[in-house]
Amino acid sequence: MCGIVGYIGNNAVADKLMDGLKNLEYRGYDSAGIALNDNQKIEVFKAQGKLANLKAVLLQNNISQNPSHIGIGHIRWATHGAPTVENAHPHISNDGNLVLVHNGIIENYKELREKLEQQGVHFYSQTDTEVAVHLFAEEYKKFGSLEAAVRSGLACLKGAFAFCIMHHNEQDKMIAVRKNAPLIIGCNQNENYIASDITALLGKVKKVIYLDDNEMAVVKKDSVIVKDIFGNIVLKKSEEINMKADLIDKQGYEHFMLKEIAEQPIIIRKILQKHVQNNKIILNEDKLNIDWKKVKDITFVACGTSLHAAMVAQKVWENWLNIPVRVEAASEFIYQKNLLNENSLVIGISQSGETADTITALKQAQNLNTQILVVTNRLDSTIVRYAQSVIGLDAGVEISVAATKSYLAQLITFYWVGLYVAQEQNLLSQDEIVSLLESFEKIPEQIEEILSHKSQIEEIAKQIKNYPSAIFISRAFNLPTAYEGALKLKEISYINANAYPAGELKHGPIALLDENMPVIALLEQDETYAKLISNCEEAKARHAFLIGIGGEKLSNIFDAFIKTPKTLSCFSPLLMCVPVQLLAYYTAKALNREIDQPRNLAKSVTVE
Ligand code: M6R
Repeated sequence: MCGIVGYIGNNAVADKLMDGLKNLEYRGYDSAGIALNDNQKIEVFKAQGKLANLKAVLLQNNISQNPSHIGIGHIRWATHGAPTVENAHPHISNDGNLVLVHNGIIENYKELREKLEQQGVHFYSQTDTEVAVHLFAEEYKKFGSLEAAVRSGLACLKGAFAFCIMHHNEQDKMIAVRKNAPLIIGCNQNENYIASDITALLGKVKKVIYLDDNEMAVVKKDSVIVKDIFGNIVLKKSEEINMKADLIDKQGYEHFMLKEIAEQPIIIRKILQKHVQNNKIILNEDKLNIDWKKVKDITFVACGTSLHAAMVAQKVWENWLNIPVRVEAASEFIYQKNLLNENSLVIGISQSGETADTITALKQAQNLNTQILVVTNRLDSTIVRYAQSVIGLDAGVEISVAATKSYLAQLITFYWVGLYVAQEQNLLSQDEIVSLLESFEKIPEQIEEILSHKSQIEEIAKQIKNYPSAIFISRAFNLPTAYEGALKLKEISYINANAYPAGELKHGPIALLDENMPVIALLEQDETYAKLISNCEEAKARHAFLIGIGGEKLSNIFDAFIKTPKTLSCFSPLLMCVPVQLLAYYTAKALNREIDQPRNLAKSVTVE
């Protein structure tokens, strides 16, 4: 979604801002802009579309010659108002002296806008953000100090925000403010940054300060002072960044998505090495501060791909732990009655750790006194604040908007945590655990085997690309994989893909089947197999282009078949997800789509 970068120091600011914004591109955006402060007047440059368009605007204006050393930049993912130049950030006050960028949503913007318009303020955009700039500018007239104006203006704002603000009369500072939207300060000698995501600062600073909600930082070239919203100084420690800059490099791959799919065996091996030793599951340095004896029911809350990971966990955990497990889309959980209490465990899953729906669901769970476990790829993210226990995914930064390696890391995490709980609570015998681990530990090499056949999957994708829609079907453990396959295909190829429990096909979706509909069946050779083959026969009888993914090709009805290595049914989602990721990737590639940054999507969805 939106991204913020601010810079104050001795270097040419435009380059610094563009560099930082480039690292945030993966979040998804549809316009961009920067503002420079230490010249005759504040100068704002904006463009619709990608950063290349903004770069062209900067070139036209000879910005490389600009001596500015303080500035702010933004990429915007449109929520209020279309992705136009007017709506792009930075937004500037009517007198041209106060300028800001904003992530989040100002919920009471309509009332504030009306009030400000009555006072004679002129609005030029449709954004919620613009009220903030005019509000702070009005307060500046009263206080004559940026810090005081922002503090006073904040009291009127409802919603979520991370702001980076400058005033032309105070060219020695930027103000950073956060409430329910992440913001960090990157610190160097004689230069400081503000950013909404650590990736913007990789390779630029070694230390960062994480702002908490309702904190405001006055950021100068050689100092950072953090205060609460009442103006009291808050002592903050800076923390070392432990991510490497090359994490946001494609390293020879055509797309981040392909690189991230290829990284999966390495990630899984690393996780397994950390948690499986001598036929036992160990926590290693992870902590699981959950009182399992108290837990009578488990609810997963998540969105998108993370929701599909939860669906797999539900099926596996109910088998192993013998406890009712519920899976709820976070956006539904927050608007329904949830019969949870101190005997409930709520597990929030979020790759980014910034998904607003999931965070709100956890806040509500807190109010119901449940135990809360968070599983995230970003231990520096907002969601961890709502957890009593946190498990990191160890998947490394995921740049492609379409989640792949983080999904597999989520699955692996639920397998080892499930096994750990089963082992510690004596829910599975030692023999059962040993035999499960035997299959579990083979997964990385089995994924490598699937990856080695990617050219065959590419050929099948070249056929899928010719259809306007596709249907995924499966049963049992791989039904979530079917949902995930359909989501991946939709997200990056824009082909309309849906997934159904195979047994549901005949209850309606079968009406869609003819020679123009590919059906992709995920087949597990367990007790569901014979029924699934019957469902495939039903599809074939309607002339669907039939693709099978699974163990042995035991039937000749398939037009194409992708073989996956043999494992236990409960682990098969770990293998089956790889061909569906590759199918989506190669279909999107054949259609020449913008794979890593698909239209309308954002990497972290920070609005409800
Ligand atoms: O960061 P999160 O896991 O909370 O994100 C949830 C969804 O927005 C995310 O999985 C989305 O569906 C991805 N684009 C999937 O590829």
